[in-house]
Amino acid sequence: MQASADVNQRIARLSAHLNPLMNNLQKEGSTNLRQENCRAKGGSPGFKVAILGAAGGIGQPLAMLMKMNPLVSVLHLYDVVNTPGVTADISHMDTGAVVHGFLGQQQLEDALTGMDLVIIPAGVPRKPGMTRDDLFNINAGIVRTLCEGISKCCPKAIVNLISNPVNSTVPIAAEVFKRAGTYDPRRLLGVTMLDVVRANTFVAEVLGLDPRDIDVPVVGGHAGVTILPLLSQVKPPCSFTQEETEYLTSRIQNGGTEVVEAKAGAGSATLSMAYAAVKFADACLHALRGDAGVIQCAFVSSQVTELPFFASRVRLGRNGVEEIYPLGPLNEYERVGLEKAKKELGGSIEKGVSFTTGSSQTTLNGVASFFCRCFPVASFFQWWRFLRVALVSPFPALVFPVSSSSSAFCGDFPVWTAMKSTARTATMVTLNSTSSNRPTLSKDNVSNNLPMSQVTSISSPPPPQAFGTQDSMEAITNLH
Ligand code: NAD
Ligand code: LMR
Repeated sequence: MQASADVNQRIARLSAHLNPLMNNLQKEGSTNLRQENCRAKGGSPGFKVAILGAAGGIGQPLAMLMKMNPLVSVLHLYDVVNTPGVTADISHMDTGAVVHGFLGQQQLEDALTGMDLVIIPAGVPRKPGMTRDDLFNINAGIVRTLCEGISKCCPKAIVNLISNPVNSTVPIAAEVFKRAGTYDPRRLLGVTMLDVVRANTFVAEVLGLDPRDIDVPVVGGHAGVTILPLLSQVKPPCSFTQEETEYLTSRIQNGGTEVVEAKAGAGSATLSMAYAAVKFADACLHALRGDAGVIQCAFVSSQVTELPFFASRVRLGRNGVEEIYPLGPLNEYERVGLEKAKKELGGSIEKGVSFTTGSSQTTLNGVASFFCRCFPVASFFQWWRFLRVALVSPFPALVFPVSSSSSAFCGDFPVWTAMKSTARTATMVTLNSTSSNRPTLSKDNVSNNLPMSQVTSISSPPPPQAFGTQDSMEAITNLH
């Protein structure tokens, strides 16, 4: 009897020490127990993982799957919209990880502080007719902001970068980390796992095998011809006819487009991507835990080719990438593919690097250079339109191109601009036109039925919350 009373006393002492607030509440006999007073603070051992873009098409299933991962003790869900709902929903799952939600840029630092692994699926996805590179101008800015947060709050975290175009966003992230003095190339990994997942599936279909028994190395990058499946190195060893090789290579390279077209404007791969992202993140967590022999393909800083970044098989360890494997023997078909891949990849890497280098230009410089380059060919009427946009916006500078790619904006002058706002994100697009084929833009077709065939580039990466009030948005779209 005495022994059990002692035990109870010890438990009470421990509990008072661990959670004094709870204890006070109980002492006062308060019935006002609130959720924030509960003790779920990630007590179970495991890693702290943040998902940036957690309310999106990839983010939500990814968050759900990470909540199921026994290696995760704390899961931070960050987005610029909808994280309270997603967090409330996922937090009811009876798995070990404790979930916290963070909304908007003012909470980015809280979301990132202390994280071991940061997964980034934030950014806009493709629509039919677009390439991944068409996402550059929006997603580049998003990735830059998020990586600035990482270098400040969790510079030692492993970063899994999903946002497209991966071939450029990884170099952007590297440049941001370099500038902050926190760059460790071992810790920055572009996620190309979906290419491997697809390759395993399609090869298994051709061979009539279980995809779980297949392992196809996919090297290069993550867009079109830069995706290079090494079918000569499939495990278990097997051979393919020329026709099978061509079919498989093309299907793997165009897997993303296959989904984009099937979704017909509703986005790109989300569920298979969440699956692939979790497979990759889980590998990173096992490696962080110290497991041996964790090998995956990823787009990383590399010396496997003459390019500064390249996807290939890497061994993961406690510090991220521990070893990068050479490509191994390639057949003639793969050698030709490699040359094509390198040619395209080099340009995408360079574009990413110069985005960050060029971004030291101030907004004012961007506007000034825009005026200087375009004024001679602009009619007074066109400038009046721009000025009206500038005057009605509470953030006048944001209506002008501020990225280093202002030439894309000026090169096809005259251009007509439009703001597009959806519930989830806001997009500024540049439509190519001449006076004879000027696209008819109205508030309706800007927000609902954008003529994508005429979009030459997607410009300017202001964060969605910077667009100001609905009134100013309507004033902008009503111009046309
Ligand atoms: P989505 O539009 O459904 O979700 C993106 C989410 O990012 C949204 O919730 C949005 O609010 C959020 N977001 C936007 N700006 C943000 C910011 N500044 N900070 C935080 N969050 C922000 O898109 P999705 O289908 O989830 O795709 C996301 C990205 O992943 C796209 O760029 C897509 O091309 C890419 N993707 C990559 C792969 C790959 O294999 N690497 C595969 C599929 C998709
Ligand atoms: C994919 O491969 O599915 C992603 O990169 C998304 C896309 O735009 O194709």
